[in-house]
Amino acid sequence: MDISIIGSGYVGLVTGACFADVGHSVVCVDNDQRKVDTLRSGQIPIYEPGLEDVVHRNVSARRLRFTNSIEDGVHHSQIVFIAVPTPPQPDGSVDLTYIERVAREIAEVLKEYRVIVDKSTVPVKTGEKVAETIRRYNKAGVDFDVVSNPEFLREGCAVADLMNPDRIVVGSNSDRALALMKKVYEPFMAPIMVTDVNSAELIKHAANSFLALKISYINAISAICEASGADVERVADGIGADKRIGRSFLNAGLGYGGSCFPKDVAAFIAISEQLGVPFLLLKEVQRINQVQRERFLKKIRDTLWVLRDKRIAVWGLTFKPDTDDVRNSVAIDLVNNLLQEGAIVHAYDPKGMDKVAELDLCKGVTLAKSALAAVQNAEALVLATEWNEFQRIDFEQVRKAMHTPIVFDGRNLFDPGTMKELGFRYYGIGRAG
Ligand code: UGA
Repeated sequence: MDISIIGSGYVGLVTGACFADVGHSVVCVDNDQRKVDTLRSGQIPIYEPGLEDVVHRNVSARRLRFTNSIEDGVHHSQIVFIAVPTPPQPDGSVDLTYIERVAREIAEVLKEYRVIVDKSTVPVKTGEKVAETIRRYNKAGVDFDVVSNPEFLREGCAVADLMNPDRIVVGSNSDRALALMKKVYEPFMAPIMVTDVNSAELIKHAANSFLALKISYINAISAICEASGADVERVADGIGADKRIGRSFLNAGLGYGGSCFPKDVAAFIAISEQLGVPFLLLKEVQRINQVQRERFLKKIRDTLWVLRDKRIAVWGLTFKPDTDDVRNSVAIDLVNNLLQEGAIVHAYDPKGMDKVAELDLCKGVTLAKSALAAVQNAEALVLATEWNEFQRIDFEQVRKAMHTPIVFDGRNLFDPGTMKELGFRYYGIGRAG
């Protein structure tokens, strides 16, 4: 199939590369000339395991190319995917400016039938607006269909998620468009769930909000565990073994962050309010997520007392492991809170430090060269993101390097018993210290 993807951000680039990898001919379009130049020169603007190989392989095979021209993309393809950002507005609702602009630009160059597929996360009923916009701006009255095809990939394992999806959701009110969409996804050999456009749009917000709810649920239980002396890991195993519940996304920690869950939960609340059916449960999900990091800070304060001038090491800055993404990272928020209270913070992250420095996200932090360098003379170590690298570290060396061997494990990465044996005072989330 000839496919174009408008927007070479996370979703657009990974989708384009993986579509090319299964044999489609793909043009990735982006209006940022610098990004297009970077991609053309063989560099990948984001860190995502496996992505670079897939991009290089398909550029060499001439199945993948990059352009800044929507016209080029639309002419090249039978199917045009829209994967542009849908950022939040101050009130939590979704800013659809980029979607509207792309719809207009497609309309202006549309000369024959195309399927326009919305892959960005958008509020329910956006497809209707996109179709209306294309009709309004396409003077020639060309036939087209608008389809919703939400993306469920996770950063850090985006290529694997895209190549082996649990399901593919296609929201379409047209058989012609549906037939083409089935051809696009045939090589992935995954179940295709066909719905109307509105339902597909809703599935994305409902799925992300449900996952956020699972996280807040276990985090609320972690507070009860701390108050009662139970262990949240055992509780999560116990409830997660019930197939109806499932163990995944029941990892208690500092709460969810990133560019999806916080934004999508807020958007779903705004959508429900606009529709006159406020989804109050999600407000509690947000509240628990906020309280969780405050409880953790309190634990640090209760243990170290005054934080001013205390040297604290922080391991992990990205919003989760295996990515360089620091957007809406709880770890960054935590570092800034420690800095605000006067602590001297030495932080280390395997992939996120360049972005933290570039965007000046933690004013006053010292970015250490290694995990061991960060803990030199530290009065406490805070684990904020659960990178595998931190599990493999020689903790004898860590203890010797620290001023006082105290560990606050914000992701329950380490085993409390082992840490105690190694001579650390250990504080996890929802488990006995
Ligand atoms: C999330 C969804 O998982 C994807 O399916 C979706 O496609 C994506 O949003 C999106 O809308 O684009 P992502 O934000 O990349 O993916 O990362 P997740 O692995 O879902 O983690 C999100 C946050 O939840 C992280 O801060 C993570 O640390 C936290 N989390 C996750 C927990 O605190 N506990 C858990 O058990 C799982």
